[in-house]
Amino acid sequence: MEDATRLAAVKDVPENGSLLFTVREPDGSKEEVIVVRASDGVAGWKNFCQHETDQRLDRGRGAAVRSGEIVCPKHGSMFDARTGYCDNGKAAGSTLVAVDVTVEDGVVYLTDPNCELLHEGGIDDDRTPGSSSHLTF
Ligand code: FES
Repeated sequence: MEDATRLAAVKDVPENGSLLFTVREPDGSKEEVIVVRASDGVAGWKNFCQHETDQRLDRGRGAAVRSGEIVCPKHGSMFDARTGYCDNGKAAGSTLVAVDVTVEDGVVYLTDPNCELLHEGGIDDDRTPGSSSHLTF
């Protein structure tokens, strides 16, 4: 597949959680992306709530996905995992920001022209081991 980056095997996308990735956007900034199971396969979303955009849905241990809905950990609004739409709680009437992913032969690919995969995990997960050490010698 042209212009596609392998993210994961579909079987590795948790039923009740998410996979977390960090991408680079066209302006050079980093952004987190989650991949979740949806009723028609898998879906990709930017990893922030629409009520408070500094609130991450996946805080490093997987988003809470229940009955096909992604639950915001702060105020509990639930977003449809397939459409990203929220019809409840503080985020009612909003929709998560979509990231294009495609499934082919059981593999999830990042196909969003505005997202370049940097690494698995969250933005902070690319720290070099020991780089944040406060030890002195
Ligand atoms: S921050 Fe997500 S519902 Fe309020």
